[in-house]
Amino acid sequence: ASRSFSQSVAMNRAIKNVTVVGSGLMGAGIAQVAAQTGHNVILVDNNKLALEKAQHRIQTSIERVAKKRYADDAESSAKFISGALGHLKTTTDALESVAEADLVVEAIVEDLKIKQNLFTQLDQAAPEHTLFASNTSCLRVSDIAKVTKRLDRFGGLHFFNPVPVMKLLEVVRIPETSQSSFESMFAWGQAMKKVTVECKDTPGFIVNRLLIPMGLESLRMIERGDASPRDVDLAMKLGAGFPMGPFELIDYTGIDLAKFVHTALHAEFPDDPLFEPTQIIDTMIDEGKLGMKNGEGFYKYN
Ligand code: CAA
Repeated sequence: ASRSFSQSVAMNRAIKNVTVVGSGLMGAGIAQVAAQTGHNVILVDNNKLALEKAQHRIQTSIERVAKKRYADDAESSAKFISGALGHLKTTTDALESVAEADLVVEAIVEDLKIKQNLFTQLDQAAPEHTLFASNTSCLRVSDIAKVTKRLDRFGGLHFFNPVPVMKLLEVVRIPETSQSSFESMFAWGQAMKKVTVECKDTPGFIVNRLLIPMGLESLRMIERGDASPRDVDLAMKLGAGFPMGPFELIDYTGIDLAKFVHTALHAEFPDDPLFEPTQIIDTMIDEGKLGMKNGEGFYKYN
């Protein structure tokens, strides 16, 4: 009990081989950053087309990172890009992909049954020492973990969009997560060059627990006619130092995703008016306005 944090980290097995399951926006970003920081990464998706799209997205994003880091140094930039891409493999075979994994990060669809089904299978295929983590935003990590026989080696690793840019990583423990597993995940977050915070498995963790009620209240403001989206955004950027206003952020992440997250949090807190869903989001979805990704949300995009 007298061991210091850094000593105990040194005693834990270092995470070198990382499998990321799910090649959407979050999974691709996590795989990219892991590869950029020298991990051996396997990115898995059962959809080959999704993997191809992810590879394209990673290539574009790595080039942006390289441009920023090595603005005047073409040689270092090229070396950085080829080094990162050299650490990244893709596959459609989830079971094979975990054979040598030290850590599996799951970033598939936010559906409890589908996640449980995946982890049931991975639990049998992965070595004893492999740590499991979910990047879930709205489900309870405990509910996902409970189908496995490695609750002590299970936690949440919650990244933020865009993963290559956002510096934060929420490291979530469930009651059964062992100290050594937690410390390994925390240390891995730092090896990923993220700033790590520790939190319990409560709905929304830290960021979404505070950000979503603010987003919902912004939606209520425009439903009440108190202010326009543009003025709310300007106000929060210039009056509170936000990098994006709440409506720009909803457009950026997607109206459909906002609905999904609102519904999930409302289910967890049915009596809390903070999480009461709004009508305007349903109306926009009915009108086919999904945000930046399909050209129109609260704003229009070319
Ligand atoms: N990959 C790599 N680099 C990127 C990038 C990406 N996907 N996106 C942005 N960048 C970098 C680039 O270096 C870019 O410069 P270039 O355009 O020259 O390539 C630089 O960031 C600046 O980007 P932009 O000029 O496009 O715009 P910006 O300065 O406004 O920054 C932003 C964009 C980082 C997204 C910033 O607006 C921001 O921080 N917004 C808030 C995002 C946020 O709140 N995210 C959390 C959402 S909640 C969540 O994620 C929770 C969850 O559960 C999923």
